[in-house]
Amino acid sequence: MANLDTYVRLIEAGEIVAFPTETVYGLGADAWNPSAIQKVFEVKGRPSDNPLIVHVSSEEQIHDFAEKIPPIAHTLIEKFWPGPLSLVMKKKADVLDAVTAGLQTVAIRMPNHPTALDFISKTGPLVAPSANKSGRPSPTKAEHVHSDFGAGFPVIDGEATEIGLESTVIDLSEPFPAILRPGSISRKHIEEALGMEVYESFFHHLKNPRSPGQKYSHYKPAAEVRWLTDTDNLQNSSTLFLLMDSDSEASNVVSYRNDLNQLAKELYDRYRQADHEGYESIVIEPFETIDPPIKSALLNRIEKTLK
Ligand code: TXA
Ligand code: MG
Repeated sequence: MANLDTYVRLIEAGEIVAFPTETVYGLGADAWNPSAIQKVFEVKGRPSDNPLIVHVSSEEQIHDFAEKIPPIAHTLIEKFWPGPLSLVMKKKADVLDAVTAGLQTVAIRMPNHPTALDFISKTGPLVAPSANKSGRPSPTKAEHVHSDFGAGFPVIDGEATEIGLESTVIDLSEPFPAILRPGSISRKHIEEALGMEVYESFFHHLKNPRSPGQKYSHYKPAAEVRWLTDTDNLQNSSTLFLLMDSDSEASNVVSYRNDLNQLAKELYDRYRQADHEGYESIVIEPFETIDPPIKSALLNRIEKTLK
């Protein structure tokens, strides 16, 4: 495992450090240091009313942030932590306003990644938005962080992240739990764990979204993203094709063999590749007939990038 000491000292000195998690790379700062958190907003160019997720390395740490921990939170923690599930709960009075963007709730998650857990156990809880500039895709490789913030930016290098899409965010602060952002832990997983119905609240048309992040226009690649149609021709070399099944060996055609987990893992990297290589469009084959847990999150992220 990487030697973390230098990075731990940076956090202690109020600096920010990018680190890998199982979902995407995070931009870490001490959750109790206002000026470090300020740096996160500045470096990312993030609107100040968009709150951050607190990342913990032990269950006990949630008591420093959450005022009310409902019984269903314990059920979800037992079942899914460490893992890609962020829990929104009523916050303790002394949680910094910069963390919650002034909301009365705080989002908390324990990442399922050995380096992340080791790092956080040495630094204490960290806020960590995805380590991209606002308006860029979330980073799934250390090189993506360097490409957004410069080659000298401190990144704890890990492999490409396992899941590739951001965590599921669920609001437990109201009587009825609601999923605010779909992720690899699906509605079905959560409903099975809780034995109750769970709402979904992540559609674009919501006037008053419960998650401030939903207001902001999502990253769109320079290339036009659209679904495959009968008239598409794989010979069109200005298009990057992301297909479910194909035998083509051409460099502009990628076949996922119906593996949606692999597409989720690579999606943001493919968007960055298309920008970098100057593709005019990215054409994705629809996957109605395949239904793994990641499907809803994958559709959600793709739909945000359609023109
Ligand atoms: O997988 C992830 O969650 C990654 C990795 C690094 O852990 N982090 C991440 O953070 O995606 P970020 O900041 O890019 O997205 C956090 C989302 C935003 O949409 C934000 O609005 C929402 O979570 N959020 C944070 N705190 C909230 C709160 N108290 N109430 C409602 N939504 C909240
Ligand atoms: Mg983000």
